[in-house]
Amino acid sequence: MAAKRGPTPRPGILDIAPYVPGTSALPGAGKVVKLSSNETPLGPSPKAVEAYLAEAAHLSRYPDGSAAPLREALADRYGLDVARIVCGAGSDELLNLLAAAYLGPGDEAIYSEHGFLVYKIAILAHGATAVVAPETDLTADVDAILARVSDATRMLFLANPNNPTGTYLPFDEVKRLHAGLPDDVILVLDAAYAEYVRANDYEAGIELVATTQNTVMTRTFSKIYGLAALRLGWAYCPAPIADALNRIRGPFNVTGPSIAAGIAALNDQPHMQEAVAHNTAWLGTMAEALTGIGLTVTPSAANFLLVHFPQSKSAQEADKFLHERRIILRRVGEYGFPDALRMTIGTEQENQAALKALTEFMGAGQ
Ligand SMILES: Cc1ncc(COP(=O)(O)O)c(C=O)c1O
Repeated sequence: MAAKRGPTPRPGILDIAPYVPGTSALPGAGKVVKLSSNETPLGPSPKAVEAYLAEAAHLSRYPDGSAAPLREALADRYGLDVARIVCGAGSDELLNLLAAAYLGPGDEAIYSEHGFLVYKIAILAHGATAVVAPETDLTADVDAILARVSDATRMLFLANPNNPTGTYLPFDEVKRLHAGLPDDVILVLDAAYAEYVRANDYEAGIELVATTQNTVMTRTFSKIYGLAALRLGWAYCPAPIADALNRIRGPFNVTGPSIAAGIAALNDQPHMQEAVAHNTAWLGTMAEALTGIGLTVTPSAANFLLVHFPQSKSAQEADKFLHERRIILRRVGEYGFPDALRMTIGTEQENQAALKALTEFMGAGQ
């Protein structure tokens, strides 16, 4: 008889490097300036907080299993078919559900070189093979992606704009990408930062989902709506894909307080607009100021900047220097950027504090 062994995960599971979130706390007392997770500096709408708190009176009740009131609010706001919206515990859950429904051993799924790392985890977790397409100028490259499509390709994940680069593909390029894909390959447009984009050649994905059979758009309440702790996201899908996701998702995968807060957040568009205006102003100001002290900044359409350090001043040293001043940016070595840090746009005070520390670090302005 074979020696007794404990349970073994499916092949490949132990080859997955767990997702490492950005640092969120530092040892010692005192306030921390946390610009590491692309959270909104304005916080959620007070109306969302109020709606969330009101749900405390109903915690013994299961939530609406299909998050119907939230789906209806989303359908009204964006003019969508409510039956084709699926809500999830963050867009992370929806990305994983897509992989669970459509990927398995022998299948391939593509993402771009500096793409969001959850894609790789979702692909490998379901036994499929991850295929990485090189980028051009730190931006997804449509031709490079299409060149990697094979008979085994089932899915393509594109964050638009992408995290951690902040770069985006204009709608014409997304359409060209879709046009080059076989009909049985799903194009997943992850539009987690869509609300922040000011470029008029951008489209989050609604139009392609509406007009094609194989495009899915994912969105989140974690970023501009400031509800990251609640884990709330949604996908807009062709009807058969919504049907597949609904068959395998947890029956109550979105909580009652999340549904209530999500609806209230969606209905407080002035708060959302304020967050956009703050971000647009500070994104430009910070990019200019950081460039002015000798750093290289990748042009960003989102609420963060990828900041590249020169050889003489490593990102690792900068990170340490900032931590000593209780400022946290995001290390992005695992995204292929050992010489960069990602900085989320914070409040005016937070941005100034980060700029002051980085100026000191770079030895500029002395
Ligand atoms: C590109 C991208 N997609 C998805 C997510 C996940 O968001 P959620 O909080 O909705 O799971 C993030 C969060 O960092 C992201 O940057």
